[in-house]
Amino acid sequence: MKRFWYFFVVVVGIAFIEITPLPIYAEESPCIECHIKLKESAKNIHAAMKTGCETCHRKDAGKNHPGENKSIVLTENMPKLCYNCHDESKLKGEVVHAPFGSGMCTSCHDPHQSNNDKILREPSPEVCYTCHDKAKFTKKYIHNVINVVGCVTCHNPHAASFPALLPSPVNDVCITCHKSQSAGRHVTAIPGKKIHPIKGIKDPSTLRWIMAPDPLKGNRQIRVPDPNVPGKELTCASCHDPHSSDYRRLFTAQRICLKCHEY
Ligand code: HEC
Ligand code: HEC
Ligand code: HEC
Ligand code: HEC
Ligand code: HEC
Ligand code: HEC
Ligand code: HEC
Ligand code: HEC
Ligand code: HEC
Repeated sequence: MKRFWYFFVVVVGIAFIEITPLPIYAEESPCIECHIKLKESAKNIHAAMKTGCETCHRKDAGKNHPGENKSIVLTENMPKLCYNCHDESKLKGEVVHAPFGSGMCTSCHDPHQSNNDKILREPSPEVCYTCHDKAKFTKKYIHNVINVVGCVTCHNPHAASFPALLPSPVNDVCITCHKSQSAGRHVTAIPGKKIHPIKGIKDPSTLRWIMAPDPLKGNRQIRVPDPNVPGKELTCASCHDPHSSDYRRLFTAQRICLKCHEY
């Protein structure tokens, strides 16, 4: 009798599910009888699934889950649930990405399985466009890194040490790939030994200019930066958009020199 059932299961099984290998947890869990989405094997299965649904889900009093007189809730609040197995200190950093900080791990990761790397809900960079305006990253000229390796080449999706979730200051990030532009020599030829600045000075386009009395000649008005507007540091990103641009060379303005200089 046992043999018959074995035969039955194998033959009928093959006939109906076309030999797709079931995920390891499939035979074990009664849950997937109804949650058939988890029956389909995905390319990447979260290793935590091996430990069973009960690692993360438990029954509790409350509204009735179908077939139960209890509801099914998470064994722990997010993101603590994830930190039961993942080292929180490895993901932390001074500058924190908003959805990560608020424990919304599942806005990017599927907790169960996915066809994308790192069990992401969408492949990178699409996963970023679920919240960030895609149009800003897909203008006429796209920085080729984004198409080839995605956003996480430059940004840590969780947290990082520098503003904008970068692993190092802006210019250092760029120079890892563009060594020959590491000094300002490439910007323009300047007479004498002077080199165009690319850091260590304020970007004039981010300052507001106001008229104030000249400290040398009290009765004369001169143009000075508004002390209430701190401005941003000049970096590669002052002249080149790190993502995409409507102008050649990823310039942040069509006539780039006029962004900061009046000629
Ligand atoms: C009899 C069929 C059936 C079984 C067996 C079943 N579920 Fe469900 N479950 C449902 C339905 C129907 C819903 C509501 C619709 C939905 O969200 O998919 C649901 C919803 C859920 C939810 C969403 C949260 C909620 O309560 O709204 C979770 C989590 C869940 N089930 C986990 C489990 C786990 C874990 C098991 C195994 C212990 C399990 N289910 C077994 C049918 C079932
Ligand atoms: C690593 C922890 C973990 C394991 C293991 C796990 N789940 Fe979940 N599950 C979650 C989290 C977290 C959510 C909430 C997802 C969200 O916020 O959208 C969830 C949500 C669900 C839902 C709600 C609908 C959905 O797909 O988002 C169902 C149904 C569900 N789980 C079923 C299961 C079943 C069945 C198993 C076992 C085969 C299982 N889960 C194993 C963490 C887990
Ligand atoms: C029961 C332990 C356990 C829990 C709980 C758990 N994980 Fe995991 N997770 C693992 C193991 C084991 C691996 C594989 C080894 C590794 O990469 O650390 C893994 C891998 C991952 C990976 C990498 C997948 C890949 O393909 O490289 C991500 C992303 C991840 N987990 C996210 C989460 C999130 C989000 C949560 C909370 C919803 C969570 N994990 C909860 C055990 C767990
Ligand atoms: C904004 C989207 C986003 C959020 C929110 C997010 N992650 Fe991730 N996570 C990613 C991406 C993208 C990767 C892949 C990074 C890479 O390939 O370098 C990743 C990778 C991982 C990995 C694998 C790390 C490794 O070195 O392989 C783990 C574990 C992980 N995330 C856990 C979490 C946990 C836990 C949370 C919530 C506290 C979380 N993530 C929130 C996008 C996100
Ligand atoms: C669930 C929504 C969500 C997803 C998905 C998401 N982000 Fe964000 N991101 C935010 C929010 C909210 C902010 C903060 C608001 C703001 O400054 O615009 C932010 C800010 C940022 C910042 C600026 C941080 C700073 O401190 O200046 C960067 C860089 C960033 N996200 C990159 C990414 C990348 C890369 C991805 C894909 C791996 C991604 N985001 C996916 C919601 C999201
Ligand atoms: C080549 C490196 C690089 C890549 C690849 C990259 N970024 Fe950035 N990103 C930066 C730098 C540098 C800044 C800071 C710019 C500044 O200081 O003005 C930044 C700033 C941001 C900001 C905050 C400021 C703003 O412009 O809104 C967001 C959000 C962001 N990036 C998202 C993304 C997303 C989403 C992707 C993938 C589609 C991506 N980045 C790919 C380098 C990169
Ligand atoms: C991971 C490597 C990498 C990093 C980091 C990187 N780039 Fe690029 N960059 C590329 C590649 C690849 C191209 C495409 C080269 C080509 O098409 O010839 C490119 C192209 C460019 C171009 C366009 C050149 C042209 O001829 O139109 C500019 C400008 C540029 N990058 C600036 C930057 C800036 C600014 C940063 C820092 C925010 C940066 N890059 C960081 C790899 C990188
Ligand atoms: C003050 C504005 C300015 C700054 C700051 C600046 N660049 Fe440029 N960059 C230019 C101009 C102008 C060109 C165009 C030269 C030309 O006409 O081909 C250029 C061209 C480039 C190119 C294309 C070179 C080629 O011939 O294909 C790359 C790559 C580049 N810059 C990277 C960087 C990096 C990396 C930084 C920061 C370390 C940086 N730039 C800082 C103005 C700037
Ligand atoms: C993002 C702002 C910015 C852009 C864009 C920019 N510059 Fe500059 N430029 C500066 C700053 C700041 C200085 C230093 C001024 C000082 O020392 O007072 C400077 C200095 C110079 C100098 C040295 C002479 C002087 O006035 O001190 C020349 C020449 C120059 N820039 C030409 C150019 C040219 C040509 C372009 C276009 C290819 C350009 N700049 C684009 C910010 C910029």
